[in-house]
Amino acid sequence: MKAILGDIDGNLEALKAVLADIERQGVDSVCNLGDTLGYGPNPVECLDLAMRMSVVLLGAFDHAVLFGSESPRSGEDHLLWTQTQLETIGEPADQQRRRAFLSGLSSLHRDGNILCVHGSPRDPLREYVFPEDVYNLRKMSQIGAAFDRLCFVGKTHIPGVFIERSPDGWEFVQPEECDQGFHVVGHKLICNVGSVGQPRDGDPRPCYALFDGERIWFRRVD
Ligand SMILES: [Fe+2]
Repeated sequence: MKAILGDIDGNLEALKAVLADIERQGVDSVCNLGDTLGYGPNPVECLDLAMRMSVVLLGAFDHAVLFGSESPRSGEDHLLWTQTQLETIGEPADQQRRRAFLSGLSSLHRDGNILCVHGSPRDPLREYVFPEDVYNLRKMSQIGAAFDRLCFVGKTHIPGVFIERSPDGWEFVQPEECDQGFHVVGHKLICNVGSVGQPRDGDPRPCYALFDGERIWFRRVD
């Protein structure tokens, strides 16, 4: 069983709750889809926990912390604050180790015919795929052409599964509609695993996904 999570966004309490839940699920690998750093108050502590995960991807905020923001107005203060945290917490060797780890992160991971990205298969770092995009056939067909069978994403902080019913027909299924687990057989799928640190679907509980190769389960953690 794999656990796939993302958008921890510096929320240490949420991450600890999710990791405790993962521990009880018989999980053998944890894949983190990025934005380990972000809005919350404990980016460094979250990064230290992420460094023990099997796969960690680069998110857009992580990228901005390393290389600067492309849209300086939004969240610039918080970006500078996060950079300062990374430069001041712990010993110089810890700071160097964290920076080297962040610098080495990739924006996508392939596991057989399964793709994992932060944003979208077409633009792994920057593109959002929102539930209402199922009505944007041009966007969805281009995104669908960018991966084989199954793609895990984060970024919007809105969990759910996008299903390609036909080459130009997509459907979005919310986690509540697949509480027995979502069967991945048959259609091309994009699974948004939601956010650990800052859910934006109206449910404030941290969210992540479990995947056993056939089914996806969404987990909400108190
Ligand atoms: Fe995020």
